[in-house]
Amino acid sequence: MKREQWKSQIGFLMAAVGSAIGLGNIWRFSYMAYSYGGGAFLIPYLTALVTAGIPLLILEFAIGHERIGSAPLAYAKIKKNWEWLGWWAVTFVMFGIVLYYVVIISWCLNYFLLSFNLGWGSDPNAYFYKKFLSLSSSPSKIGEIRTPIFFSLILIWFINWVIVYRGVQKGIELANKIFMPMLFVLTAVLVFWSINLDGASIGIRAYLTPDFSKLSNPKVWIDAYSQIFFTLSLGFGIMIAYASYLPEKSDISKSAILTAFINSGYSLFAGFAVFSVLGFMAKAQSKEISEVVSQSIGLAFVAYPKAVSLMPGGNLFGALFFFCLVVAGISSSVSIIEAFTSAMVDKFALKRRPLVTTICILGFLGSIVFTTEAGLLWLDIVDHFLTNYGLVVVGIAECILAGWLFDIYILKRHINKVSSIRMGRLWVALIRYFVPLMLAIMLAGSLKAEVTKPYGGYPWAAISLIGVNWIILTILAAVVFALRPWKTENLKKVGRGQRHR
Ligand code: TRP
Repeated sequence: MKREQWKSQIGFLMAAVGSAIGLGNIWRFSYMAYSYGGGAFLIPYLTALVTAGIPLLILEFAIGHERIGSAPLAYAKIKKNWEWLGWWAVTFVMFGIVLYYVVIISWCLNYFLLSFNLGWGSDPNAYFYKKFLSLSSSPSKIGEIRTPIFFSLILIWFINWVIVYRGVQKGIELANKIFMPMLFVLTAVLVFWSINLDGASIGIRAYLTPDFSKLSNPKVWIDAYSQIFFTLSLGFGIMIAYASYLPEKSDISKSAILTAFINSGYSLFAGFAVFSVLGFMAKAQSKEISEVVSQSIGLAFVAYPKAVSLMPGGNLFGALFFFCLVVAGISSSVSIIEAFTSAMVDKFALKRRPLVTTICILGFLGSIVFTTEAGLLWLDIVDHFLTNYGLVVVGIAECILAGWLFDIYILKRHINKVSSIRMGRLWVALIRYFVPLMLAIMLAGSLKAEVTKPYGGYPWAAISLIGVNWIILTILAAVVFALRPWKTENLKKVGRGQRHR
């Protein structure tokens, strides 16, 4: 079977950017910048981008492109008994991160519709937690499925299914070529609208006024690295699969650098809308910024609805905002469905269409638990474990595998053969020493916090049953996949660069 290919370099770039830009860019970055020194945060953030984000993204592109395969195939071609690592990455993201990520996109879809008549009423906080989620008091009290969330979940999975079903060119590439420019234009509308609101400057000042004293706190630096890691979809196995669809002649390092800067530029830009609106709200309610600010779910589903209700023409503003979240979210979720699909096709020669249909149905079924009354609690626990441990461990292993157990110069030569921007010894040193070290520090920090007190104050039983088991089960699944025999000849073909010794 011939490997699918992108139609154009720009299509590949849009798809990579689409995967990178997600909910995290809109609600996580700006809050981090605000609380970690405003404009001064750009120093650790850009340092992390240049010293870890870009080198790793180049590595992942190179692995996918040179070894010509999705994560499991590419890793197996690097070292036969490391195939499980690739399976683990695509499995815990597909049957972990995506399951709840898609539910959050469904909330956004509900809120998009609610915006038109400000359906959250006068108390958005109570509306969100009590009425909309009907949040239960503990992870073990599952309660009922929330029907409005359930129905929009069906729609969101359906859209994901349509896009991935249609294949690389006609599905993923086409969707991102429409979604990304649309997202940029709509975000620009939001930014220009919000910076003209009364009080916007208060918010922007809070967002960007540099406070260099914050930079002496190591946590600021560690969190900058983890944000870069998550926002660039590193360790997901996505960028490897995407790069494997590139034609022979493809400028890898330039694409990686462009992806990284477009992604971070988008975060920085969207932050203006986020903080202008918070400034507007602070002024309208004569409060301090610190009293109205919030992040992630609290920002999108409580603070923003509040502000939208106060704003003239707010319903349209709210609808635009939630629409942007939906678009940014879907372009990320399709990327991992594709990475998993690609892995299954590479190894088992399955037919794409029935495969994608099956994956989406299983994914939909797996998502349902997150639409229950305990959904947010489960989401919080699973997210904590998969992002803090899963992704980080994969990142470290990836560096060890490529940098130490393999002749990394094969990859380096390959990059330099096809790219306009050359990698030198510094890149090799970053992959071998610096990036794994930073990731190990992140991991140690998380582990230390874990043993000192259970995450988020949840009972230990819930944490180990939900969080730890999710990790163990996905590892088991990965090992099972890795032990199955190859149904294709893919493994026999070596990479594009020098032969594997
Ligand atoms: N980069 C995305 C963000 O910032 C996260 C993400 C990337 C993601 N790929 C994904 C989430 C695949 C779920 C599935 O939000």
